[in-house]
Amino acid sequence: MTQPMPAQSNIGDHVARRADFDWSQAREILGWPADQHNIGWYCTDRICEQGLGDKLALIWESSDGQTVKRFTYDELRQLANAYAKFFTEDLGLKPGDVCAVFLERIPELYIGILGGLKAGIVMLPMFSAFGEEALAARVGPSGAKAILTQRKLCFRVRKIREQVPDLQHVIIAEPGDLEMQDGEVHFDLAVAQPLGEFAAYPVTEESRSLLHYTSGTTGQPKGAQHVHGSLPQQALTTLWALDVRQDDIYWCTADPGWVTGVSYGVIGPWSLGITQLVMECGFIVDRWYKALQEYGVTMWYSAPTAIRLLMKEGVDKVKEYDLSKLRHLASVGEPLNPEAVVWSEQAYGIPFYDTWWQTETGAIQICNLPGMEIKAGSMGLPFPGVTATVLTDQFEPITEPGVSGQLALRPPWPSMFREYYKEPSKYESKFKNGWYLTGDRAYIDEEGYYWFKGRDDDVINTGGHLVGPFEIESALLEHEAVAESAAVAKPDDEMMEVVKAFVALKPGFEPSRKLEMQIMNFIRKKLSPLAMPQEIEFVDKLPKTRSGKIMRRLLRAKEWGEEIGDTSTLEDD
Ligand code: WT7
Repeated sequence: MTQPMPAQSNIGDHVARRADFDWSQAREILGWPADQHNIGWYCTDRICEQGLGDKLALIWESSDGQTVKRFTYDELRQLANAYAKFFTEDLGLKPGDVCAVFLERIPELYIGILGGLKAGIVMLPMFSAFGEEALAARVGPSGAKAILTQRKLCFRVRKIREQVPDLQHVIIAEPGDLEMQDGEVHFDLAVAQPLGEFAAYPVTEESRSLLHYTSGTTGQPKGAQHVHGSLPQQALTTLWALDVRQDDIYWCTADPGWVTGVSYGVIGPWSLGITQLVMECGFIVDRWYKALQEYGVTMWYSAPTAIRLLMKEGVDKVKEYDLSKLRHLASVGEPLNPEAVVWSEQAYGIPFYDTWWQTETGAIQICNLPGMEIKAGSMGLPFPGVTATVLTDQFEPITEPGVSGQLALRPPWPSMFREYYKEPSKYESKFKNGWYLTGDRAYIDEEGYYWFKGRDDDVINTGGHLVGPFEIESALLEHEAVAESAAVAKPDDEMMEVVKAFVALKPGFEPSRKLEMQIMNFIRKKLSPLAMPQEIEFVDKLPKTRSGKIMRRLLRAKEWGEEIGDTSTLEDD
């Protein structure tokens, strides 16, 4: 379907842009100084210097819907300054130190991240749903010296403190009458004194900014290290792909525990002086539609799982609300079904524009831009300045259209991750023949459009969130009844994939529904609700290669009704 070119789209003629753009032009296009790189400064001081101090930066609605708070850019700036001062002067954190963030979507999460970045501190965002084991697997290796948390969640932090000796400060928001323990301190917006000036730490483009942990097939999650120099790509993709305008009310539904919630829920919109909405509540159909209506959302960045759930509610539900302000919609995180694109045109009068990227890429790489012909089901074309390809198993570019291979990108690009924190060999393994390997499979059609085929590894994508099988299997092994296990993806109508675990029990344990529920709960509490297997199949033994590696692929293929393929390495019965 061809979309009429919005007369005033930010990118204008995308074909011409592609032809003559490279990243060295980004700062000039954005009108940005060449010698300032601090993301915290761009998102606050710079916007105020432009005379937008009184403009709304954040509209926040509490989870019960009873409280709405609004912050102008000047308030954001002064409160971020208060956090920056607190981190450095009160706690003694230094630029380059790591501060973890373990908060629900409350204003302190957003303002704390900005304050830390301003002070040159490396911020490590984590999902509030993480259980102690997931928390320890990230906070520990990151060497975080401090953690921002809140009363509700601090009990989980207390449980891991012995395992994470580097952690000196636990900063608790809304502690109420909580009895503070050693190393715990109260700081939140109720006690922060707005601070007129804080000189942003003079970072370079290569100074560390954010650490986002992400899952792979092997080992525990790896920390994708980002730098302040990511900003021009995050800003330009927000401007050209998400097509934000100065008078927009922008809503990115992602949690900052996920890279989307930081790149496009903090950095992108605020570095451009845009007003954004944050809903503390998760997905609730009526709350979401009510929010779109009441706050007059114009640009909405969401994810396929949410869109599929909205589809289930039907067009009639949409008609109960006035969503006439919506101008542009975009999606990320999983394949966007063609039906969802068609449905959104019927329901909202505009399609969702798919965008593809990853924790490691830091910003959008392949997407549908305003003015482009949208082919429902395709991820679109590489963003200007991005060189992509698909590779054979020998890592050679495939030139024939329609042939699937491993999706790869030509490094470098500004928002690219600079390392897997303290795991140089894992980082190295992501590059072959001068290409960055994404771990996804895709093909390119005759017109250069990219089509997603699936993951090239065993990582499970549940509702847009990647879960590593190793992390689940390690946690499963800690259960007294589990002898060995394999976690694989199982198809699901709503979440695309959910976790299914195959478990062989230790002698003395018998399969039962009760044991299944007990193991599920064990994982939910240790890791998170997303990592929890939705089904456990008890088996006598797991299929293994002759060298003893569990063949997850075989188990996965069975779940998906696919050909099992080559099993010649399978262990004999
Ligand atoms: C993986 C990255 C995107 C930033 C947040 C997630 C899958 C992402 C799409 C899309 C099909 C997609 C890929 C990718 N994915 N976007 N538009 N179509 N698949 O970052 O947690 O690092 O996940 O999500 O498999 O590699 P992430």
